[in-house]
Amino acid sequence: MASSTQKLVSLLIQETAGLPIDQTLALLAGRFPGAVTFSSSFSFEDQVISHQILENQLPISIFTLDTGRLFPETYSVWSKTNAAYHTRIKAYYPNHESLEEFVQATGPNSFYESTQNRKDCCHIRKVEPLRRALAGNSIWVTGLRAEHSPGRGDLPQFEWDEGNQLIKFHPLLHWSTDEVMAFIKQNNIPYNSLHDKGFISIGCAPCTRAIQPGEDFRAGRWWWEDSSKKECGLHVTEKPGVANSLAKID
Ligand code: ADX
Ligand code: SF4
Repeated sequence: MASSTQKLVSLLIQETAGLPIDQTLALLAGRFPGAVTFSSSFSFEDQVISHQILENQLPISIFTLDTGRLFPETYSVWSKTNAAYHTRIKAYYPNHESLEEFVQATGPNSFYESTQNRKDCCHIRKVEPLRRALAGNSIWVTGLRAEHSPGRGDLPQFEWDEGNQLIKFHPLLHWSTDEVMAFIKQNNIPYNSLHDKGFISIGCAPCTRAIQPGEDFRAGRWWWEDSSKKECGLHVTEKPGVANSLAKID
């Protein structure tokens, strides 16, 4: 990480220390006008963040990556969110040629057959559309929480994302599941009904299942693979890209 980027990350950590989420998001939106975006998968943590943005009318864009393989319940909470907040959350879709070629070559459910197929599917349906969604932004807000997996336990709240050349901010990093659920209930926020059926971490339908009490939160994702491989590439730092210019601090 370049020292100017390091300084910017440190400055943001200092300036937002102790601030509630809505004020932190407002500060970021003011510092990086038109260049703060939030990725929502409509999980319950993501619904908390959408609520903060939409209820406070913060100038932060919200997008989702529609892989085409989401649960009906996910589309339902997406519609309910649009209606509740009088909004239209923007969706990004896979490149149709890449997807047609991939499915033609490997079949519709080839992610069960090899980790390479699974990674290729995630790349086409999520990672490439994510690149387009993040283009031109300086801050990427996510709903990552430390509780999700041991690998996320050590994350800082603000981090430089070398692959995407922007700063990631994880406002709910240290929230527990109980805190997230309590906030959802108190504020009557629409949420994915699968959370009431044992689903904690929710992704694509063929690659997500409910977990048993006491199981690891990520146990229901890509359950047929080694736990060491269970990332879809959205939150993995990839090879350094060509540096773009972060919006300047006012
Ligand atoms: S993943 O890497 O395993 O797929 P996870 O489901 O834990 O991610 O979600 C973590 C964060 O990644 C979410 O809070 C959200 O910010 C982002 N995210 C995951 N899936 C999507 C999606 N389909 N659309 C938009 N953002 C997503
Ligand atoms: Fe494909 Fe499964 Fe990845 Fe969704 S989670 S993009 S269906 S491999």
